[in-house]
Order: sequence, then C-alpha cells, then structure tokens
Amino acid sequence: MDKDFRHVTRCRICRSTELYRFLDLGFMPVPNGFRKKEELGKKEKKYELCCCFCETCGHVQLSGVVRPQLMFTNYVYIPSTSKVMMNNFSRLAHQAYVAKSLDEFSLVLDIGSNDGSLLTFFKAYGSKVVGIDPAENISKVAELNGIPTEIGLFNLASANKVKKKYGAADVITATNVIAHIDDLYGVFRGVDTLLKKDGLFITEFPYLLDLIDKLEFDTIYHEHLSYFAISPWKFLVEKFGFEICDLERLQIHGGSIRLTHRRKSSHKNKANRIVDYFINLEEERKLNERQTYDLFSQKVIGLKKSLTELIDGLKKQGKRIVGYGAAAKGNVLTNLFNIGRDKLDYIVDSTPYKLGLYTPGMNIPIFAENRLLKDMPDYALILAWNFANEIMEKQKAYKAKGGKFIIPLPSVTII
Ligand code: TMP
Repeated sequence: MDKDFRHVTRCRICRSTELYRFLDLGFMPVPNGFRKKEELGKKEKKYELCCCFCETCGHVQLSGVVRPQLMFTNYVYIPSTSKVMMNNFSRLAHQAYVAKSLDEFSLVLDIGSNDGSLLTFFKAYGSKVVGIDPAENISKVAELNGIPTEIGLFNLASANKVKKKYGAADVITATNVIAHIDDLYGVFRGVDTLLKKDGLFITEFPYLLDLIDKLEFDTIYHEHLSYFAISPWKFLVEKFGFEICDLERLQIHGGSIRLTHRRKSSHKNKANRIVDYFINLEEERKLNERQTYDLFSQKVIGLKKSLTELIDGLKKQGKRIVGYGAAAKGNVLTNLFNIGRDKLDYIVDSTPYKLGLYTPGMNIPIFAENRLLKDMPDYALILAWNFANEIMEKQKAYKAKGGKFIIPLPSVTII
C-alpha cells in the first residue's frame, strides 16, 4: 500500500459508492512538484490521475487522494503576481466589508491564506485578520507582510484552536482552496464552529460547467480533488445547516463561481431564484449524465491531436517554441500530450519561487519572463491560458516584433 495515496471509494459529498470513472489521465507526478537541477537524475513519484462522476449526487471528483502534506507544505503557487487575481480579491473584500459593515472589532479568517494577499485588503479596511495555510514557506511571507498566519490544514480541530486564540469570525473566506480539501464535512464543521451566528462564509472555486464547456481538462490534477457544480454543493451546504445567500460567476481561472453562505434562517432568501436557475442550467446541460463526461474525454483526445500536429509541423519548419506560464495546468498538458524539451526550449514565468527550477515530468527549465523579448522565439505556447489576456498585454513588444502566441484551449488558436 502506498502511504501517500488513497483511492476514493465513496463520494466526498453524499457518500454514495456509485462512482463512474472517466478521463483516465494515467500516472503523473504532482503538478507543482517542480524540481531542482540536482534532482533531475532521480526517479519521480507518479500517482494515478483519473476522474469520477457520482451518479447519486452528480459531484465530480478525483479517483484518489495524494497526501496533502506532500503537495502543500512547501508550496510554489502565489496568486499575488497576477493583477487580475488581486483585483478579484479587492472586490471580494469590498463586498464583504459592505455586507457586514466590518470595523476594527470584526475578525476575518481566510482559509488557504497563501501569502496573505486577500487579507491585506481586509486589513486595509481596519479589520482584524488571521490566515490559516499549510504552506510553511509562504506563511512566513504572509507574516512578513503583517498577516498573522496559523500553519496547518483547516478542519474542526484547527478551527477550535483558532477560535481559542482569536475569537469567533464575522467573515470566513476560502478562495481556490475548497477543491483541495478531502474532508468537506470537516470544513463545514470548522466553519460552523468558528463563524459568528450571523457571519458570512464566502468561497470561490472553478465552476464545473466552465471546465466542461471550455475543455479545461488540464485543471484536473492531484491538488484539485473536487470539481464543483451548484447542485451537489447545495446538498452539502444544507446538510450542515447553511444556505447560499449570494452567487456570482467570475471570469477568473477559466470560469469560477463566488458563493456567499449564511446559517439557514426563516428570513426570505433572495438568492433562491438564482440558485434554482443554476440547478436548472446544470440539468439542461446534462451535468448529471455520464454521456457528458464521456464526450468530454473524447474531445480531450481530439485536442491532443490538433495541438501536437501543430507543434510537430512548426518544429519541422525549424521554428523555436517556448512555453509561457509554468502553471500546474501546463504540467498536466505537457505531460499528457508528451510535449517535452524537444518541443519547448524553456518556459517563462513570473513566480520568483519557480525560476531556475524544472517542470515535473517533462523537466523543462523555467526562466524569468523578460527572456521572451530578449530571445525572441517564434512562438510562445500560453500554458497559463487563464491569464492569456494579461500575458499578451504584458508582452505587447514581443508580439510587435513578430512573436506569435499559441493558446491551447478550448481549441488551438494562433495569435
Ligand atoms: P495558475 O494558472 O495556476 O494560476 O498559474 C499561472 C502561472 O502563470 C503562474 O505560475 C504564474 C504565471 N504567470 C506568468 O508567468 N505571467 C503572468 O503575467 C501571469 C498573470 C501569470
């Protein structure tokens, strides 16, 4: 038995055993398992990567769980290098501030607080803040930024610890982290313990309908245990005595959803209609049917063919291609489509922690973004396609000098 991997036998939301497997991506290294030069000769550990669709509640999830400490203790992903993400956080903080009339006595807790980027906005409004995150390296950065941070995973036990130390929270936020958490019941028990009676729980995650519509198969990786639709999520929320009181779709990360929750009460809930709208939409779009997922898998195979044919053709013409954005999703794409150093000379990325490292599996070297303009390769394959506009705007000069971008999803496009 592998102590770092556990097969999922029951749905994480409804506990059903009716799990239908689809999109078997084989064995892959963890997507943020970047490597140092001296590690390149060593064998990389690979884990099963396959999806399941719960035929009882409709929840889409991975077929297995890699031990979280292995992926999150030393983390390399930080959202604060993106203007789009920071604007998104700023708007979230503003909405919560207005909704709860936050002041200097209010406490905001952020689950998966990373380098504290979201909490800095709440702090600027004068509220007390605390983050919780298992990444020891990035939590240190948050502390240096003046954001008190507890190191650890969020669950009932850590929620009790935080409550003892800081008191109950007016607002709990969790952006792009809930999909990382195996024990969703533990999350809701923790929120229930920590949140004040009339507090708000706000979360954001990529939306399953966008993933399916835009063929975002490369966002499926070991860190993302769940791919949420509203229908199963609502079941979970209500199971723990909460209700969705606001819901909005966001453009970020290829299409996400922001949900605000409060404890269920007898007050009229204005969000009921919009929640019903989404549940109908999901039914209409057949998110609750096997065929949707089979069709999705077939389309991924089609995409592999078109992208690899394009790249092979360009290489035959002697063109030089590099990658843009050493995103986790890029590591899924390059590994699955077998795009190695023979195709991509290197990848440029804005994250300081990733520079000088090599991508997991394909071992492609990572350099700073300014190399693109200096080196002028013929094509840059945008692996971080969720930031394509931000990247192309930043690299206007590369394009003006004749450089071309390739966007891989939802269909291969050259710009
Ligand atoms: P993500 O898709 O997991 O958020 O990762 C995006 C990656 O793209 C991350 O490694 C940072 C990188 N990136 C750039 O290199 N330049 C940019 O302008 C932006 C916004 C992101």
